[in-house]
Amino acid sequence: MQAVSGGTIDPASFKAGMRHLAGGVCIVTSLTSAGLRAGMTATAVCAVSAEPPVLLICVHRDTRSHGVIGEAGVFAVNVLGMADQELAQRFAGTMAGEERFDDARWTQLLTGAPVLETALASFDCRIVQAVEVGTHRIFLGTVHAVRLGRGPHRPLLYANRRYGGFSASFAMPGSEEEL
Ligand SMILES: Cc1cc2nc3c(=O)[nH]c(=O)nc-3n(C[C@H](O)[C@H](O)[C@H](O)COP(=O)(O)O)c2cc1C
Repeated sequence: MQAVSGGTIDPASFKAGMRHLAGGVCIVTSLTSAGLRAGMTATAVCAVSAEPPVLLICVHRDTRSHGVIGEAGVFAVNVLGMADQELAQRFAGTMAGEERFDDARWTQLLTGAPVLETALASFDCRIVQAVEVGTHRIFLGTVHAVRLGRGPHRPLLYANRRYGGFSASFAMPGSEEEL
């Protein structure tokens, strides 16, 4: 069935549709009061406002990261490039906790949330609002620091259960980059 009048669609139909929406892949991180790092792969990341700078992340309430982020009140969003595809898989896989952070270089900005040195960009945030919606909680964070990577701009995307790259076909007028 394509549409149900008056009701909502079933979860499987919702997921089948959403699979077509390509998302930029990020690793969202935070840390416990004991200083232990937590992080997970996330595509549900969205810019909300530039003045003041606010972004949102949407986190399943069953994840370990959910509890850590909520308690810490801070998180970092690390925007991944193609070169970090393995990290994306690791931060969504069975390996848990601190182990996920092995074999990559991490630093921190203001809040202490882990910032990936090879990320295309990292945003260091403090939570200003949280809204529970179904299985997830939306955390809205004000951005207190940003770190821009120095590597090539090759963002990692995810769609239809696959990772892939972005190929530009049209440059917006005024864009500094040549295609
Ligand atoms: C490409 C991709 C994107 C994902 N995006 C999200 C997301 O936006 N929100 C979320 O709650 N889980 C998302 N997940 C699932 C989490 O990464 C996964 O459940 C993770 O293992 C949770 O880790 P944790 O329980 O250690 O916090 C995504 C997984 C993949 C592979």
